[in-house]
Amino acid sequence: MAKIRRKLRSTEWFGKMDRDGMAHRSWTKNMGLPNHLFDGRPVIGIANSWSELTPCNAHFRDLAEHVKRGVYEAGGFPLEFPTFSTGEVLMRPTAMLFRNLMSMDVEETLRACPIDGVVLLAGCDKTTPAQLMGAASVDLPTIMVSGGPMLNGRWRDQTIGSGTHVWKLSEMVRAGELTLADFMDAEACMSRSAGHCMTMGTASTMASMAESLGIALSTNAAIPAVDSRRYVLAHMAGRRIVEMVREDLTISKILTRQAFENAIRTNAAIGGSTNAVVHLLAIAGRVGVDLRLEDFDKLAHDLPCIVNLMPSGKYLMEDFYYAGGLPVVMKELGDLLHRGAPTVSGRSMGEEIASAQCWNRDVIYTLDKPFKKKAGIAVLRGNLCPDGAVIKPSAATPKLLRHRGRAVVCPGAIRAWPRSATCRCRPRS
Ligand code: FES
Repeated sequence: MAKIRRKLRSTEWFGKMDRDGMAHRSWTKNMGLPNHLFDGRPVIGIANSWSELTPCNAHFRDLAEHVKRGVYEAGGFPLEFPTFSTGEVLMRPTAMLFRNLMSMDVEETLRACPIDGVVLLAGCDKTTPAQLMGAASVDLPTIMVSGGPMLNGRWRDQTIGSGTHVWKLSEMVRAGELTLADFMDAEACMSRSAGHCMTMGTASTMASMAESLGIALSTNAAIPAVDSRRYVLAHMAGRRIVEMVREDLTISKILTRQAFENAIRTNAAIGGSTNAVVHLLAIAGRVGVDLRLEDFDKLAHDLPCIVNLMPSGKYLMEDFYYAGGLPVVMKELGDLLHRGAPTVSGRSMGEEIASAQCWNRDVIYTLDKPFKKKAGIAVLRGNLCPDGAVIKPSAATPKLLRHRGRAVVCPGAIRAWPRSATCRCRPRS
């Protein structure tokens, strides 16, 4: 067993042979915990964003149990705790309004409690950046385990994707091309297993960002939520976090400038969500990395998209996993990646992706023959967005890339902009 490099935080609670120590141990023992768990071993927090109000994260109690198995196996002491959970489909007015609240919840719980290292369980869109932001502010050894995408939606003979087909099918009802009964039949078939949206929307993008940042174990992004290998990943994360505490491998040693540059380029290659921009900037801010909007343009605006997934393409995350998943994409990026960047496994990113193999070139293309050329996120500047805006060309029709028309201006801005104002935003050529 590796020697622990510095005094553990949890010793301040459980290691004292006085009145306070007795109180901390005594009340904690009411859960049926034996004496030997208080012998100075690493205490691992499992930050669980489980909630039935966040359906994408509703299977997390099972996931947490598998993390615990790994923690116990490695000689740690797991303590699971709930975090605020901001789910995309039920919260009003928008889950984004609560991202920072969730991050504060995670941060303050970590600061206030006897935790030496933490495993973050996240899935639905904003839960991933919120947990990473909170953990980054505290700087403990940290691993993220994503909840995983739902299985492919299957309705009759069609593959249907979350989000993408909500719009498509509802438009068909409006156009009289689909009955309401068929529409309602399709909704149960679209979300037919536990997990988050299985298109390359924000949840899959942010799970991919966690993997490309090196803060999640390899293959984290794409294993379907109900695949037994997701539970193996959770188990291995539980084992590894105990070692990370012993090595004092804190989150700031993983989330370096190089890690963010890897994530930005990976996001372009997967045709990831533009929401990754705001979330990566926020996470970088918490860990003290100087990352700017221009970096997305500079590092990745001309990179191709090599992943054929909805909404840009036709496949879904389940197919992506069977094709080899994110390690294949990152291997394709070759010298564009910082292969020496550290990861939570203790190995470099280059070592993590070295043996990746592609099993389906219709799902994952190559840089030489990409799925879509120049598909990275482009930063726009113009009279309506002086501080910048972003667009994902891989998900846009050519018509959308050059548009002239009347602008709809929010009420607060009407004084500044005449009703006839036209947007003159231009993507970088
Ligand atoms: Fe939760 Fe899409 S609604 S990931």
